[in-house]
Amino acid sequence: MRFSEELIEEVRARNDIVDVVAGYVRLQKRGSNHWGLCPFHNEKSPSFSVSGPKQMYYCFGCGAGGNVYTFLMNYENMSFLEAMKALADRAGVQLPEMEDNAQIRQREGKRARLLEVNKEAAKFFYYQLRNPRGAMGYQYLQKRELSDETMHKFGLGYAGKNGADLVQYLRQKGFEDEVIKEAGLASNSERQGLSSQFWNRVMFPIQDINHRVIGFGGRVMGDGTPKYLNSPETPVFDKRRNLYGLNFARTARCGNIILCEGYMDVIAMHQAGFTQAVASLGTAFTPEQANLLHRYTENVLLAYDSDGAGVKAALRGIGILREAGLTGKVINMQPYKDPDEFMKALGKEAFQERIDKAENSFFFEIRILEGQFDMSDPEAKTKFHREIAKKLCEFSEDVERDNYLQAVADKYLIGIENLRKLVNGYAAQTGLAKPVERPRSGVHQKNSPEENAKKSQRLLVTWLTDEPALYGKIRKYISPEDFTDELYRKVAQRLFQGLEADNFQPAGIISMFEDEEEQREVAALFNTNLPQLNTGQEREKAFHDILFAVKKNSYEYYTDKLGSDVNALKQAIEGKKALEELAKTHISLD
Ligand code: UTP
Ligand code: MN
Repeated sequence: MRFSEELIEEVRARNDIVDVVAGYVRLQKRGSNHWGLCPFHNEKSPSFSVSGPKQMYYCFGCGAGGNVYTFLMNYENMSFLEAMKALADRAGVQLPEMEDNAQIRQREGKRARLLEVNKEAAKFFYYQLRNPRGAMGYQYLQKRELSDETMHKFGLGYAGKNGADLVQYLRQKGFEDEVIKEAGLASNSERQGLSSQFWNRVMFPIQDINHRVIGFGGRVMGDGTPKYLNSPETPVFDKRRNLYGLNFARTARCGNIILCEGYMDVIAMHQAGFTQAVASLGTAFTPEQANLLHRYTENVLLAYDSDGAGVKAALRGIGILREAGLTGKVINMQPYKDPDEFMKALGKEAFQERIDKAENSFFFEIRILEGQFDMSDPEAKTKFHREIAKKLCEFSEDVERDNYLQAVADKYLIGIENLRKLVNGYAAQTGLAKPVERPRSGVHQKNSPEENAKKSQRLLVTWLTDEPALYGKIRKYISPEDFTDELYRKVAQRLFQGLEADNFQPAGIISMFEDEEEQREVAALFNTNLPQLNTGQEREKAFHDILFAVKKNSYEYYTDKLGSDVNALKQAIEGKKALEELAKTHISLD
């Protein structure tokens, strides 16, 4: 732990979440919640709720959620410690010096220090570019048709030929050699001592969503190799979880985000007014980046290079977007290589047209597939049709699969019934209808048994949180062990402890979890949509059903584990008894 749990709770309790969030988001009271436009994704009607009684926020659109700490950590990109300090300050709580947390302070201190040194280095490069000695860099960027305004917006800079300059400057500013090295800005060389990693390059500072410089990309001004040199991963530079340009794109709010391959593409796009463009950081697009994008949009347009490597990367990207539950489309850049070249040649109106005509990712995949077969050869053509059928099997939802089946049959002039037969054949062979694994997205897994089980567990937690008095009526039937997901079980333990003691703070539970994804999941547990029912009788039936479902799942779960888990037998016996009793028991909600 960091500070004591009591202190974390005290600071949290003294900062009303509604007040804090209202400082960032316009909120309106409706029912027991406050509502506003979600600051974590792009939306036109409010699905972002803040609950005073629960002291939590939750977005029904994108699933962002948590307590007042989580909010600041996400909105301001603060570390937990920073959020704690800010909130303690706000409420006038004096925080003790943390003698016993030297390690954590050191880690926090180091992150802050790395951010500072990066910022200072970015300044240095920035001034070099605008200095007569940086003329080469400046001319290079001008030749790439970047305006002064664009260069300024992206903080572009120049690293000169003398690698010692940067180091000298940073030392003067009070940075230790250790920090300079750990930030990946310089390394020891035999001849020159500590010397800049980057020299004779134009510099692209890479910023996180809050405009803090976390790393650099440096480009040679011509044909040298490597074309780009990037900062190594550091405690503040996680290449899998950041995107170039997202600090601007997140507020572009135009209903989509355009994913490009390169820094220059992003910059050219922004200059042309497409401020929703982002790129990955010298590495392939990752699932973490897809999840990050999901906070801001549902629609991602791929603007990858039109060469072979670009197409391959696009196919990979489509898969990742799908897994994350995002809709992907592909922008055709032909006959140009990338967005940068396209923009220079044809301009923004033409690009907007390409956006409007972006190709559905499934048809893109099929079109690329088509290129691999000789359509004049009946055998190859048959193989192509089989491949289409296989791809169709990847849609787990019948309606969706059928829609695509019809569309693709139309487009490629395939007899629809024949294609359907092929698809059904594959489906039978591969035991399809078995949905593809889609972790995290939540969108496609709705109907799996595990997801159903978790759903009833969430409903029960939310219901008990809203009406704690019900706990007394069901405590003899239910225990934390009935929550079959590990995270849920941890939450249930706390929940029941609190309910037993008649002192339950759901928002406090969130602080137990350090991982951001876990905090979101916990927030979701307390914010599941309860069925809207009118009569008391309907409500009683719904509550009973939920409780019964949780117990039934728990019983099945432990029965499955008989023999491998020492607790299983006891749980299974108790579960069976509880189920029998529940089946004939009426639980009144009054
Ligand atoms: P590109 O080669 O397409 O570069 O690489 P670009 O961004 O279009 O730049 P220009 O227009 O040629 O100047 C795409 C991205 O791949 C990474 C960089 O992030 C680059 O923006 N990359 C490329 C590297 O990290 N290192 C390299 O040597 C090359
Ligand atoms: Mn390029």
